[in-house]
Amino acid sequence: MYSFKSIVLIALICTSLCISSQSSDEPQARLLVSKQVLNKLLVQDSDILVKYTIYNVGSVPAINVILQDSGFPDEAFATVKGNLNIQFTRIPVGANVTHAVVIKPLTYGRFNFSAAVVQYKSSENSVEPQLAISSEPGEGYIISYAEYDKKFSPHLLDWFAFAIMSLPAVVAPFVMWWISKSKYELILKQKREKVSKD
Ligand SMILES: *[C@@H]1O[C@H](CO)[C@@H](O)[C@H](O)[C@H]1NC(C)=O
Ligand SMILES: *[C@@H]1O[C@H](CO)[C@@H](O)[C@H](O)[C@H]1NC(C)=O
Repeated sequence: MYSFKSIVLIALICTSLCISSQSSDEPQARLLVSKQVLNKLLVQDSDILVKYTIYNVGSVPAINVILQDSGFPDEAFATVKGNLNIQFTRIPVGANVTHAVVIKPLTYGRFNFSAAVVQYKSSENSVEPQLAISSEPGEGYIISYAEYDKKFSPHLLDWFAFAIMSLPAVVAPFVMWWISKSKYELILKQKREKVSKD
């Protein structure tokens, strides 16, 4: 099975490392970050949609939020659309911001989808940046293009053979119907000729 179990987001995991020396009673922004791989099937050379959601559960807006995902090395992935490093100037209290990136795996095999890192200022006057780690989609299996083709191609030859085999089942009733129809028309014609002669 190639279905990618880990896409279903288990939970919003937040690991906030408090580097700042702020007192805890000061109102602070607090971000929960999720990273999701939205494709069920991961195929070499095919687009994969990755979605990031940042949710501010704190009591003040988060400032200068920088999302960085270094989990897709250049030698294994191409970025098709979007940016793996992005900045949001401000995320209000209770708001969610989402960001999507389309990537394309260049190779196949097992791959660990790791967490992204978010850096932000938890209040206007905080000096040290706050860190949040996103949820981790986990291990996935990227199937090769050849394998995908073998399993999911339309199997045209198979369908053709099937059509040939089922032909008698379709043709036989038609022939029988046609024969009986001709017979009936013949009788009808003979009757009509008889009537016109009389
Ligand atoms: C943000 O996302 C959380 C969790 O998914 C949800 O509970 C909340 O209602 C969302 N807030 C907004 C404003 O959409
Ligand atoms: C992926 O990560 C898990 C846990 O960190 C590890 O056990 C596993 O071996 C890793 N797999 C690969 C292919 O790197």
